[in-house]
Amino acid sequence: MNYKITTYGCQMNENDSEKISGMLKKMGHVNVEDESQAHIIILNTCSVRENANDKFFGHLGYYKKMKESRPDLILCVCGCMMQQESVIMEIKSRYRHVDIIFGTHNIHELPGLLSDHLEKHEMIVGVWKEGGNIVENLPIERKYDFKAYVSITHGCNNFCSYCIVPYTRGRERSREIDSILMEVESLAKNGCKEITLLGQNVNSYGQTLSKKTTFADLLKILVQVKGIERIRFMTSHPKDLSDELIDAIALEEKLCNHIHLPLQSGSSKVLKEMNRKYDKEYYLNLVKKIKDKIPNVALTTDIIVGFPGETREDFEETLDVLEKSRFDLAFTFLYSTRENTPASNREDQIPEDVKHKRLNRLLEIHNKIGHDINQSYIGKICEVLVEGKSKNNSNYMTGRTDTFKLVNFPGDDSLTGKIVKVKITDTKTFSMEGILED
Ligand code: SAH
Ligand code: SF4
Ligand code: F3S
Repeated sequence: MNYKITTYGCQMNENDSEKISGMLKKMGHVNVEDESQAHIIILNTCSVRENANDKFFGHLGYYKKMKESRPDLILCVCGCMMQQESVIMEIKSRYRHVDIIFGTHNIHELPGLLSDHLEKHEMIVGVWKEGGNIVENLPIERKYDFKAYVSITHGCNNFCSYCIVPYTRGRERSREIDSILMEVESLAKNGCKEITLLGQNVNSYGQTLSKKTTFADLLKILVQVKGIERIRFMTSHPKDLSDELIDAIALEEKLCNHIHLPLQSGSSKVLKEMNRKYDKEYYLNLVKKIKDKIPNVALTTDIIVGFPGETREDFEETLDVLEKSRFDLAFTFLYSTRENTPASNREDQIPEDVKHKRLNRLLEIHNKIGHDINQSYIGKICEVLVEGKSKNNSNYMTGRTDTFKLVNFPGDDSLTGKIVKVKITDTKTFSMEGILED
């Protein structure tokens, strides 16, 4: 059968989709891009904000119509939303056209669930409440040959008071160093140049292993793998980012000069209520330390606007940190109430119009900073890992610098997967332009 997977949410979900694809391919099914050619449709969902949930139910309505004209179509839904009981109940009562439901902890069960459905022709629900042991060696069908995601931890133990992820992904578990090393070595053998290590909080890697290991220890081993030229990682929780790690990034050529360091809020009061376990002063000191030790580092961040009880003064503190930290990129979110999280019960929710006004002010300041940082690249020669043809102009290729800047430049497809030198000539809002250097 042909299958088509649509992925929502973060890189964790993308990596899971690659495994789902790997399993289906191994069973003899064929990955297709065009939904109209697919016999199996899989929606891998995200639950981090309410609008993600709303969108998903909208899509389910659309597939209901599609199934009326194509009754043999098998519709599978999986991912973080399926770890919420209320979602499963809603699907069971209102979206009976869904055929298979599974969760984040048991993607390896998909082959069995699929056979069950083919045999019984009824809705099959298989969701585990808690994560078991990490299942290693699942087949994987990756999107690219030259860059790859490698999960190093699953789950999260931080319970930030706004966040649903600890409930959808379970407790934090680290993969064994040997399993990670084997995966990275096999990627390198197949021509992979860049890996991105994934975890909700990569800095706490190793805490659950019987032989205590730190994230910096893991990196020291992975930089030795021949063929891997760049190592990225995300996400770094500020509370656990060690000096040892900063030194490693400063020293090791292969570790990209980019740290994604979610701020969430600049107000110490709000940070405390978010259960982030650091305050404004700690965050600013950390940024200073990073910038002192890694002069050309790119810092990116996540910020939530309108957390319950956020006053105008609290918000001004966020703007202050924004101006002092000068982020290359900020992913900004309006606070969204998530079922059963501690912050959702608060009565001092911020009105939507206030949230929007604050977000606009924040973006105005951030965009100016981002623009100024990008301007400072003009004339510089950067190493770019070429990812393929540019979307807007087929005579242009596109790729990323080690600081995660998107660069477009004239070139041809033979460069895909190579690291080339590009001189930056111009900048746009979300990208830069350049020309190849000999
Ligand atoms: N583990 C990562 C983040 C994972 S979720 C970390 O700790 O930084 C990605 C981002 O979504 C978060 O950094 C946060 O900014 C945002 N987010 C999470 N829950 C949210 C909520 N309820 N409302 C708005 N944004 C939220
Ligand atoms: Fe959510 Fe906080 Fe865990 Fe990140 S660290 S996934 S924001 S609970
Ligand atoms: Fe979304 Fe789950 Fe990732 S909630 S952000 S897909 S861990």
